[in-house]
Amino acid sequence: MAKGLLEGKKGIIFGALDESSIAWHIAEVCVAEGAKITLTNAPVALRFGGIQRLAEKINAEVIPADATSLEDIENLLTKSMDILDGKMDFILHSIGMSLNVRKKRAYTDVNYDWMHKTFDISAMSFHRVMQLAMKNDVMNEWGSILALSYIAAQRIFPDYGEMAESKALLESFARSFGYHYAKKNKVRVNTVSQSPTLTTAGKGIEGFQDFFDYSTKMSPLGNADAHSCAKFCAMMFSDYTRMVTMQNLYHDGGFSQMGMSPDILF
Ligand SMILES: NC(=O)c1ccc[n+]([C@@H]2O[C@H](COP(=O)([O-])OP(=O)(O)OC[C@H]3O[C@@H](n4cnc5c(N)ncnc54)[C@H](O)[C@@H]3O)[C@@H](O)[C@H]2O)c1
Repeated sequence: MAKGLLEGKKGIIFGALDESSIAWHIAEVCVAEGAKITLTNAPVALRFGGIQRLAEKINAEVIPADATSLEDIENLLTKSMDILDGKMDFILHSIGMSLNVRKKRAYTDVNYDWMHKTFDISAMSFHRVMQLAMKNDVMNEWGSILALSYIAAQRIFPDYGEMAESKALLESFARSFGYHYAKKNKVRVNTVSQSPTLTTAGKGIEGFQDFFDYSTKMSPLGNADAHSCAKFCAMMFSDYTRMVTMQNLYHDGGFSQMGMSPDILF
């Protein structure tokens, strides 16, 4: 049940494609908790995805933006301030795409142009959003910026391919930019390392269902679903987490601390 955690707050949510998207759940929970938001996604995703359904449901405007375009992001930030009538209190980066994984290129035989594009879409876009937000004075003091990550940034998951390095870069940007944003505007920056989740991006990974089942057995609480991730993110956007910054926070039912699970052995 909603508690008015984000009453009076304004934010931008990237990455809601369809009902399975983690960002879709986060947008719904943030609005239910009292926030006013704008939604954004790549122009191509606006054509094929279901974001308009979400926009109508939660009464939010959609502003197209390709996360690799400085111009698109700047337009998104300034339009969001116009539409929501003021500066932002939170931004969610929920963007991931690997060209080599999608085109089934082995990790030991990647196309480097695609790898570069993967890093640009999945990680550099996070820096881009924060740099433009800082330059355009978009964030209120004590604002909160989050990106979604995965434990393949720290451990080996062979089928995750170059997304592992994308997530390592993403988490590093949260630490480095988090320092500068805290010093300049008291804005906090964190990543949430989420369990495997059945979404369009998740299902693009080879053998995802088997891996999903393995992960839920390894996690004493089971895999965290998209809705519980949304509640965690809403808390991270709230005033209850003001002193948390530059962290990678595991939201994974305990998976990251496990060595062995009898549920898998026997
Ligand atoms: N699904 C999982 O198992 C899982 C686990 C941990 C972390 N994550 C991360 O969560 C985030 C959201 O993924 P999801 O699982 O909800 O899948 P999703 O496919 O619903 O979301 C990915 C989003 O990225 C957007 N995107 C791709 N290229 C873009 C571009 N150039 N500009 C703007 N947006 C672009 C897509 O349109 C889509 O909305 C990603 O960062 C993903 O890596 C997912």
